[in-house]
Amino acid sequence: MEEPIISVLKETRVFPPSKEFSGKARISSMRQYRELYRKSVEQPEQFWAEQAEQLHWFRKWDSVLRDDQGFFKWFEGGRLNVAYNCLDRHVEAGKGNSIALIWEQENGQATTFTYAKLLEEVSRMANVLKGNGIGKGDRVCIYLPMIPELPISMLACARIGAVHSVIFAGFSSDAVRDRVQDSDAKMVITSDGGFRNGAIVPLKDIVDKAVKECRTVEKVLVVKRCANRVVMKKGRDSWLHDQLSSVRSDGCPAESLHSEDSLFILYTSGTTGKPKGVLHTQAGYLLYASLTFTHVFDIREKDIYWCTADIGWITGHSYTVYGPLANAAAVVMYEGGPSYPRPDRFWKIIEKHKVSVFYTAPTALRALMKQGDDWPDKCNLKSLRLLGTVGEPINPEAWMWYYTVIGRKHCPVVDTWWQTETGGIMITPLPGATPLKPGSATLPFFGIVPGIVKEDGSRAKENEGGYLVIRKPWPGMLRTVWKNPERYKHTYFEQFGVYLTGDSARCDRDGYFWIMGRTDDVIKVAGHRLGTAEVESHLVSHPTVAEAAIVPILDVVKGQALYAFVILKKGNKPSDRLRQDIITHVAEHMGKIARPEKLQFADDLPKTRSGKIMRRILKAIAEGAKDLGNTTTLADPSVVEKLAKGRIA
Ligand code: WTA
Repeated sequence: MEEPIISVLKETRVFPPSKEFSGKARISSMRQYRELYRKSVEQPEQFWAEQAEQLHWFRKWDSVLRDDQGFFKWFEGGRLNVAYNCLDRHVEAGKGNSIALIWEQENGQATTFTYAKLLEEVSRMANVLKGNGIGKGDRVCIYLPMIPELPISMLACARIGAVHSVIFAGFSSDAVRDRVQDSDAKMVITSDGGFRNGAIVPLKDIVDKAVKECRTVEKVLVVKRCANRVVMKKGRDSWLHDQLSSVRSDGCPAESLHSEDSLFILYTSGTTGKPKGVLHTQAGYLLYASLTFTHVFDIREKDIYWCTADIGWITGHSYTVYGPLANAAAVVMYEGGPSYPRPDRFWKIIEKHKVSVFYTAPTALRALMKQGDDWPDKCNLKSLRLLGTVGEPINPEAWMWYYTVIGRKHCPVVDTWWQTETGGIMITPLPGATPLKPGSATLPFFGIVPGIVKEDGSRAKENEGGYLVIRKPWPGMLRTVWKNPERYKHTYFEQFGVYLTGDSARCDRDGYFWIMGRTDDVIKVAGHRLGTAEVESHLVSHPTVAEAAIVPILDVVKGQALYAFVILKKGNKPSDRLRQDIITHVAEHMGKIARPEKLQFADDLPKTRSGKIMRRILKAIAEGAKDLGNTTTLADPSVVEKLAKGRIA
């Protein structure tokens, strides 16, 4: 079991919701929350069937939930279309002129899309996909920066039943290759480049490198964004604008899809070098993203909502695209760097677009907090009424800063705990009801039954740390790991028979959950989920590296950073230059986010007699701990002393 990342054991103040906020909220008291929660877990099928009425169905379901030998099926027999639910039905209800998307470019220009306009763009894009031979069930990888073509491509796939797999544009060629290969994608959608902090990231070049080794890719569609020079391969590559100009924007009916047809794959890190393709399907995912969005952000007619996450991660999927659009909300999407050109960019965007609901990550808050209060103080943030965080534990200091300086003590802060696999928010305050405790994600959402268990499977006591599990299925849960159902069963259900989250947590006397950190080899660097094994595989692909191990170290802004131990192949000498070269190699092949913060050359790594690397000891060494714990099971205990001496402080 990992130690808590941030000490949360000290009891903190409780912040009950203001009368003003509760008065207007959907769920306005703890009594109301508890009643509905009880119903949702005691009669789940009835509860979810009632909620599912909010969606538009071409055909209603026959059964709400079925357990098919550990693979859960929701709303079987039902037929619907996710894009229709996010666009057409709002236009048909007279909301065609309402704002769907406000796109803020890095250069400060902004473009607005109404629901009618977005529907038109999505239909046209869907016709381009069809014209390129993409049909139901085909996989399309989307490797785009934060530009409107990204959600438009996702919705176009959803419209025709193609399965999208968005790859975060911060990943590099090998990471892209691995994800495209595993999904057997027929098409990749990318752009010539993307703007980041005033510079151009050459995305098309990265795709060219990656796709060389992907045999299934027939077509590459390229968005012209930066007008940087790119090489177009004849027969495979085409400019999106050329294709769009030759197809109709209407006449693309939304396919009637089965509830359990695949909607998207999103790769995420786990314990092995190969990232796993988390599969989400149509109805359950959409319902869960939509319902959580409504309640957690207590969304209202006039809200302008902004989630700062990149759409390449699950937060962007569920809470920039599907959840908000299913609710006909107005969504801000920002293209560039958070501090570009100055550290007040976030606050300027809030002021400019009058953002009322703001959802971001603790790492961003800590980075901005470091810049001082002057930046936000000089902006008009009066439009804000609700704040949210996601991605990692928020330390009470950052929470208080968010609450006081950004929210001026009248915006509730919803600390939302969830995962790529869960599809939507699982543990969270409801802003009109839940008294807040800084640092705690508080209580379960409707239908969610979390628990804390100990190694032997027994229930942990109050405030006792243990494995966080979810005891009942919920509509937004992953359905399987793409092409690897065994891995799904093994990773999530083998240990305790109920869904294993991979997090450790404790539950206090009020039933509030406090997330402590991961129990596996996943590290959250600046909110990005990385697997140690994937990073290690990119270290050992460097020609001089024989063996490598990655462990997390604390970082005041990023939460966690990577510390690498590297053993060189015979004939190579450690040097600062080589160290830099290896670090650059990881950045070039996997992405800058995976770059080790520190790299220590080693002659040997602490291993058990059966040859297993003892990461617990490496972590203690990296952190400079005085007590390295029990080292008696090591094959060669002298290794540890040497490593501790060579630690990079
Ligand atoms: C962590 C992101 C504490 C956790 C939506 C989880 C959090 C992992 C919180 C999933 C939170 C997410 N408090 N920890 N509010 N939210 N986490 O798949 O370790 O990128 O298992 O999904 O992030 O990361 P993922």
